[in-house]
Parts: sequence; C-alpha cells; structure tokens
Amino acid sequence: MARFLVCPPDHFGIRYEINPWMRVSNAVDKAESQAQWRALARVLEQDAGAKLERMTPVPGLPDLVFTANAGVVHDGTAVISRFRHPERRREEEHFAQWFKEHGYRVILLDEECYFEGAGDLLGFPDAWFGGYRQRSDIKAHRVLSEVYGKEILPLELVTSRFYHLDTCFCPLGNGELLYYPPAFDAYAQAAIADRVDERQRIVVSHAEAARFACNAVCVERHVVLPSGCPETMAMLEDRGYTSHPLDLDQFLKSGGSAKCLTLALD
Ligand code: ARG
Repeated sequence: MARFLVCPPDHFGIRYEINPWMRVSNAVDKAESQAQWRALARVLEQDAGAKLERMTPVPGLPDLVFTANAGVVHDGTAVISRFRHPERRREEEHFAQWFKEHGYRVILLDEECYFEGAGDLLGFPDAWFGGYRQRSDIKAHRVLSEVYGKEILPLELVTSRFYHLDTCFCPLGNGELLYYPPAFDAYAQAAIADRVDERQRIVVSHAEAARFACNAVCVERHVVLPSGCPETMAMLEDRGYTSHPLDLDQFLKSGGSAKCLTLALD
C-alpha cells in the first residue's frame, strides 16, 4: 500500500515571498484551503487507496504543508532537507523529529549543502533524477548517492517559476514521464531524452505546466493533478490512467499543488 506523509493546512498562508508565485498581498482563503486539502486527502485515501500519515501543523510555519520538502525517504532512511531560504529552515527540526519518532534512520546534511527533499529528487526504481540550481545544490547529489547507493542524474532547472523538480517533472508508473521540457537546460533535456524512451515521454503544454499539471501524485494507475489541465488529463487517460482533477488554487498561491503536499514514504 502506498503511504504518504501530509500536514493539514491549519497554519498555511503566504507570509513571505520566496518564489515568483508568492505574493503576501494574495491572501489565502482559509476555509477554501482547508476544504481543498481535505478533498486531496479523500481522493488519495478513498480513490487511490493510499495510507496517509498526518503530521501536526506548527504555528508560524506556513509552508510545512509542503511535505514533499521534508526530505527524501528510501529503505527506512530519511535524508532531511536543508532549505535554501531561511524562512523555511525552522521546518527542518519538525521533519527530522517526525522521522525519528517513526523509526527512520535520520541523516542531516551540512549546513551549506542545500537540498529540498523529494521536491528535487524523483525517479523510477532504476533511475533517479535530481533537480538543482534554483533550490537544491548539485553537491547534495554526491551525499545522496552514497547514502542510498544510487546514481543520480543531475537536471538543471533554469526558470524561477519551475523552481523545484516536482513542478515540471513527474515519473509515472510503467516508466512513463510527464514533464515540461522548457524548465530544463538543453543538457538536461538531452539527458532525459537519453534515459526515457520517446514513447514514454508525455510533454505538457506551457499553459498547463503553468497550472502545475506536472505537480501530480501517481498511485498505481491513479493520477491526482490540479484541475484546469484537460490536455494532460486526456493524454493520461489515453495511456490507461484514471485522472483525478482537484481544485488546489489556494496552494498554487504559494507555488505548490498536489505533489508538493505529499511525501511518498518507504
Ligand atoms: N512556498 C513553498 C516554497 O516556495 C512551496 C513549496 C512547494 N513544494 C514543492 N515540492 N514544489 O518553498
């Protein structure tokens, strides 16, 4: 059974601006954000059959809801994120604490080695990809490779709007990949093309990438994605996926959507 770490949005809001989507003046509607988050939890639990582990929200940490940035978890070992922006650094201890309390081996990175967890590290069982430059440092990949015994293919993110790998790149089941090529430099685009067969690559349009179509959660044949992405849904359905569109606009105000709100465990 797929398991995800999530954190209810009790203290979610736009209190600072650390990516181009965030505007402090663009206030979050609290009731709406709670309803949208609950709808996401319901689809994951009831339609996709996943198990959710809920963290306790912490006052003063509005971005703790984005558990994809807690760290990366594999084989019982969690490498905790080290945030580039000081605004998010206080989250690190809460994520580390959660993993310790739940029996994971916890590894912390050097202070100067930025890495934002599963927001910037995604892959297939046999190929891991690491986004870098906007938030995570490429030097974190060496540490992660050693810890997990996996090769990590570095992918340079070149636009500030697609600042985490999971905003523009989503590995699906069966080796298929949903992604938005212009978010990557030419070398990364070539590396992706080299690793993922053309028939397996699903290219998202500019308009739907900007709706965060790639910020999707895939559980077996279920794909949960933001609403307003009809072309992406049609491409997924063509390949036999069941798509579950959800209005997550309150979270887009912070530069996040379905995938950012979850962290795959195990
Ligand atoms: N406001 C958050 C930030 O800028 C959003 C994080 C979204 N997370 C993600 N995995 N893309 O850090």
